[in-house]
Amino acid sequence: MTRSIRPLVAGNWKMNGLKADLAIAAEVAKGYDAGLKASVDLAICPPATLLFTATSGLIGSRIATGGQDCSVNLSGAFTGEVSAEMLADAGATFCIVGHSERRTLHGESNATVQAKAMAARQALLVPIVCVGETQGEREAGKALAVVRKQLKGSVPEGLDAASLVVAYEPVWAIGTGLTPTAADVAEMHASIRADLARIMGKQAAAGVRLLYGGSVKPSNAADLMNVANVDGALVGGASLKAADFLAIAKACA
Ligand code: PGA
Repeated sequence: MTRSIRPLVAGNWKMNGLKADLAIAAEVAKGYDAGLKASVDLAICPPATLLFTATSGLIGSRIATGGQDCSVNLSGAFTGEVSAEMLADAGATFCIVGHSERRTLHGESNATVQAKAMAARQALLVPIVCVGETQGEREAGKALAVVRKQLKGSVPEGLDAASLVVAYEPVWAIGTGLTPTAADVAEMHASIRADLARIMGKQAAAGVRLLYGGSVKPSNAADLMNVANVDGALVGGASLKAADFLAIAKACA
C-alpha cells in the first residue's frame, strides 16, 4: 500500500448478473460500515444493462459504479456499442478499459485502449486501464517490458492522479487461482509507477492508484495488499460474493 493513497477495491462482474443479482450489491452496501468507509473506496462494475439500476440502488452508500468497456466513438452509427457518455449518464464513475479479455477476445490494441481511455475521460469517467503479461511473456523474462509497452501505448498523456487508475492483471492469474509472488508484484508495481512518471510526470504518477488483479480472494488479499505500490484490487470472481468482496475490502482497509 501507499500511505498517502486511499485504496480502491473494484469488482468486475464481467458478463454475469441479472436484476436479481443486484442483491449482491445491496449486501455489499450493507456491509460497507463506517470503519471501511473511513479507509477504502469501493466500486462495482456490473454489466451495462444493470448499471443504471445498480447505481440508483447504491445512492447514499458511497459505493461507486463503473462500466467494463466503452466505445472509442462518442456517439453515432455504431450498432451495439455503448459510449462513455451513456455509462456516465447511467451513473458510472469509472470505466474499465483494456481488460485482457477485451485485448485477447476482441483484438484490442494499445491504441484502441488509449482511445477508449480518452473517450472515458471526455465523459468525465475515470478509466481503469488494465495491463498485464501472458504466462509465456513472464517465463521469457519479458513481463516488465511488455507492461511498459502497454502503458506507453494505452495511457493517455496529460492526466492527473485522480483521473486515472491502473490495474496490473497478469493474464495467467485471471480466473485461474494462480497469483504472482509478492516479490514479483512489488517489482511490477514499482516499475509501473516509474513508467507512469515518464508518461504523466512524477508528481501525478505518485498519486495514481495501482490495483492488483487476478485471482484476488479473501485468503490472499492481505498479503497482496501489503505489497508496496499496491493501492487496491480489481476483483473478478470473488466480487460476485458479497462476503468475499467485503473481506477483500477489509484486507485493504
Ligand atoms: P479474477 O478476475 O479475480 O476472477 O481472477 C480478475 C479480472 O479479470 O479483473
